Amino acid sequence: MKAKITVAAEMKIGEIDRRVFGSFIEHLGRAVYGGIYEPGHPLADEEGFRTDVIKMINELDVPVVRYPGGNFVSGYCWEDGVGPVSERPKRLELAWGVTEPNLFGTNEFMRWCKKAKTSPMMAVNLGTRGPEEARQLVEYCNHKSDSKYSDLRIKHGYKDPWDVKLWCLGNEMDGPWQMGMKTAFEYGRTANEAAKLMKWVDPSIETVLCGSSSRGMHTFGKWETEALELAYDNVDYISLHQYYGNHSNDTPSFLAKSLEMEDFIYSVICAADYVKSFKRSKKTINLSFDEWNVWYHSNGAPYDKWSIAPPQLEDIYNFEDALVVACMLITLLRHADRVKIACLAQLVNVIAPIFTKTGGGAFRQTIFYPFEALSKHARGNALRPIVTCDKYDCKEFTDVPYLESIVTFDEENEEATVFCVNRSMEENILLDISLLDFDGYKAVEFSSMDGYDIKQENTFDKEDVKMHLNPLPEFDGKVTTAELKPLSFNVIRFKKA
Ligand code: AHR
Repeated sequence: MKAKITVAAEMKIGEIDRRVFGSFIEHLGRAVYGGIYEPGHPLADEEGFRTDVIKMINELDVPVVRYPGGNFVSGYCWEDGVGPVSERPKRLELAWGVTEPNLFGTNEFMRWCKKAKTSPMMAVNLGTRGPEEARQLVEYCNHKSDSKYSDLRIKHGYKDPWDVKLWCLGNEMDGPWQMGMKTAFEYGRTANEAAKLMKWVDPSIETVLCGSSSRGMHTFGKWETEALELAYDNVDYISLHQYYGNHSNDTPSFLAKSLEMEDFIYSVICAADYVKSFKRSKKTINLSFDEWNVWYHSNGAPYDKWSIAPPQLEDIYNFEDALVVACMLITLLRHADRVKIACLAQLVNVIAPIFTKTGGGAFRQTIFYPFEALSKHARGNALRPIVTCDKYDCKEFTDVPYLESIVTFDEENEEATVFCVNRSMEENILLDISLLDFDGYKAVEFSSMDGYDIKQENTFDKEDVKMHLNPLPEFDGKVTTAELKPLSFNVIRFKKA
C-alpha cells in the first residue's frame, strides 16, 4: 500500500521537552536492589551502583528519573532511608507486601543520579503522611543550611543541597490500592497545602498534581477538574498514568492502543483548560505522563510475602510490545506543546527496558530500542505532518491508520527525522515523504526494527530484536520514498548537505 507524509518546518506543534524521555525507579521488586544497586556485584562501583546498568541507561539518555514510587511512596518515611545505614530500620512495605531494608534512600539516589547523568523527580508521601513531612523533605534536600533538616543532611555528610527541581504530590491517590486513598476533594486540599508549604521552603521547585491513575477509573475527568480547582495556583503539571497489554492476543487491537492514549491526553488537556477558563487564570497546567508502558506479561506471578526485593512485575517484552512502545512515544511527541514530562515505567527489571540477573549480566529488552532511537534523535521541535494512509478496523477500534508517525526538526543541528510504525501485519508501505521547505536536506540514515516474529523476545544471550540499518531510501529530487516493512518501526534521518 502507499502512504504520504507532507511537512514544512513551520508546521510546529511545540518544542520537545527532553524530560518526555524520563523514566522511573520505585522501591519495588528488583528495581533498586539487584537493579541499579547491588554492592558486591563484580560490576558495582565503590558505592554499590551497577556500572553495566548505568552504561545502558546512558545509552537511553534519560534526563529525569522519578523516585521512590509509585505505590511505595504512599507509606514511605523518608527519614528511614537517610543517615548511617546501620541505624536504618527494616519496614513492612504494605504496597507490595515485602520488607524494605532501607539500604538505599534519598542521598544514595541523588548520588546515583549524578553518576547516571540524570536528574531526580522526587515524589512525596501524601497517603499516610501529609504536607508537613513533604515540606521537611524539601528542606532536607534543597535548603542550604542553618535549619533542622538542612543541618541533618549536612550531618549525614552532604554539605551541598541537592537542588531537586521536580516534585510529585503523592501517587495515584484515587486508587483503592493506594495507602491513604483520598477523594478528589480530600486530595485536592492536601496537595494544595503540601505544594504551598513545599514552595514556601523553595520557590524554585515545580510540582505535579496526581491525575487519575488511569483513563479507566470511574472518577476520571471529575477527579482532574475537582483536584485541579483546589490546587491550581500551587501546581504546575497534572499527571497521567496508563499501561497497555495484549490480554486477548489480538495484535491489531493491541497495536492501536496508542489511539486510546491520544484520547486520554486530549481529555486531560480539556479538563485542565476547563479549570483554567472558569478560574480566569493566565497560567496553563501542562501534562506529566509519569507512568506509561506495556504491562501484562508478569501479572499474577507469585513471590514470597515479606521477603526483600523478590522478583516482581518482571515482564519480558517481545517485538509487538516494542511496536506499541514506539506508537506511544510518537503519540507523546504529537502533544509536545502540552506533554512536558513523561516517564517510561519503569527503568530496570520492573516492567523495564533493562533487565538484570542479580549477581549476573544484563540485557536490553525489545522496548529499549524504540525508546533509545527517539530519545537520541527526536530533538528540537515536533512537527505536525499531513499524513495520508489507509485505515483498518479491528475488535477494539475503528479507523486505525496503518501508519503512526511524527516528524521532528532540530533546527540548530540541521536535522529532521521521520519516526513511523507500519501497523500492517501483511503489507509493506511505500511511503512518500515531502519535506516542503527543507532545501538541501537529504536522507542520511534509514534504520528500522522489523522482520521478527511478533512474540520474539531478547535474552541474556541474544539481543536479536533491535534496530538495523537499511539502504537509503530513493530520492527523486523532491520526494523521498521509503519502503516500510509490515510490522515495523522506522527512523529516517535527514540532514542538510
Ligand atoms: O509502576 C508500577 C505501579 O503502577 C506503580 O507503583 C503505581 O503507581 C502504578 O499503579
